[in-house]
Amino acid sequence: MTKHLLLGQTLTFSGNPMHDAWEDVTHLDTQGAVLIARGKIAGVGKGTDLAAEHPDAQLIDYGDQLILPGFVDAHAHYPQTAMIASWGKRLIDWLNEYTFPEETRLADPAYAADIAGRYLDLLLDHGTTSVCTYCTSSPASVTAIFEAAEARGMRVLAGKTCMDRNAPEALVDTAQRAYDESKALLEKWHDRGRTNYVITPRFSPTSSEDQLQALGALWAEHPECLMQTHISEQIEEIAWVRELFPDARDYLDTYERFGLLGARAVLGHAIYLEPREIDRISEMGAALVHCPTSNTFIGSGLFDMSLARRVSVGLATDTGGGSSFSMLRTMAAAYEIGQLRGAPLHPAQLLWLATEGSAQALHLGGIIGRLAPGAEADVTVLNLGSTPALGQRLANARSGWEAIFPTIMMGDDRAVSDVWVNGARVTP
Ligand code: GUN
Ligand code: ZN
Repeated sequence: MTKHLLLGQTLTFSGNPMHDAWEDVTHLDTQGAVLIARGKIAGVGKGTDLAAEHPDAQLIDYGDQLILPGFVDAHAHYPQTAMIASWGKRLIDWLNEYTFPEETRLADPAYAADIAGRYLDLLLDHGTTSVCTYCTSSPASVTAIFEAAEARGMRVLAGKTCMDRNAPEALVDTAQRAYDESKALLEKWHDRGRTNYVITPRFSPTSSEDQLQALGALWAEHPECLMQTHISEQIEEIAWVRELFPDARDYLDTYERFGLLGARAVLGHAIYLEPREIDRISEMGAALVHCPTSNTFIGSGLFDMSLARRVSVGLATDTGGGSSFSMLRTMAAAYEIGQLRGAPLHPAQLLWLATEGSAQALHLGGIIGRLAPGAEADVTVLNLGSTPALGQRLANARSGWEAIFPTIMMGDDRAVSDVWVNGARVTP
């Protein structure tokens, strides 16, 4: 068995820097090391110690580069890869004008396979080793992403995006078909190696009450699965939900009343939650996902990160409503939104959100997103001086965090110097 010992700067956490003072729970080791064996992280510590303990390990010396867990993108739409950065619309018009026509194309299994492979390769280029993605309503789009994930050894979570109204004919299913197709896909793909099935009603405007009920029933039969959906992303969307569900107490209730709220619910955006919704989400232990480049790009609003004190919060691109595949760019946007709300996030908090925070939101804490023994060996290595602009800034850094933060703000796929997936080295 080949063991690999990665030498460089390591970042580890002994607690949650969104709850506790980040200084108390964050450990940046300039002479650190990560030992990889049998696809798992087998040790994290001082380079000299681990090298002495494991003289048989193959050494890979990254110098002063930063060794991190692979990034975890907690909410994305892989079918939107080819229409990312489409101009000038807000959510509902953006869906109708750009998103639904592109998603229709993925009914063709060959096109879906092309996009799925392209998307996962882009993620690896950007240092993202796991994603929780929506597919389209076509089962072929689910098969395509799971097959592409298996071919790359990546841990990927995904589900058929169910819609039975307010979408083009070619994309809508029915309550029964949503149930049957989701169930068949779930039975085939959930927990098969590194793939996880996620029950996925798109959002309540595109599902009838019957469909929400059917998916609530499916979730009750398979509580081991996550359930992902969108909530309270834009003001107009919330007004539409109110019209479509006049009896509901609020947006959350359109899910809750059909059995679609629980600890394994993963709710995207959540910008305009009301006090009852926050209390209920917190009580149930459901997770929220912050999608900052999407929230600025589609003009949605400013997420309140103080919610992370009460609720599990993950970080995500929301590609292609989000304007990037990069979790670096996503952290930068989260920082900027924090600034606009008068609460800037520290780089330790941003890096935690993009790894452990997203993993925890997806109920995969300790499995991905963490440099710790027993975790799956997905690792991303960042060159902190990847461009002339960053190189000159790095040369002027007065501390470890000053060396790291500019790459969060200004870095892109050029900063990703190496990636490991499930213990195997991938050349980005
Ligand atoms: N709400 C429902 N569907 C979508 C989508 O595809 N992207 C975003 N950003 N919001 C949504
Ligand atoms: Zn989304």
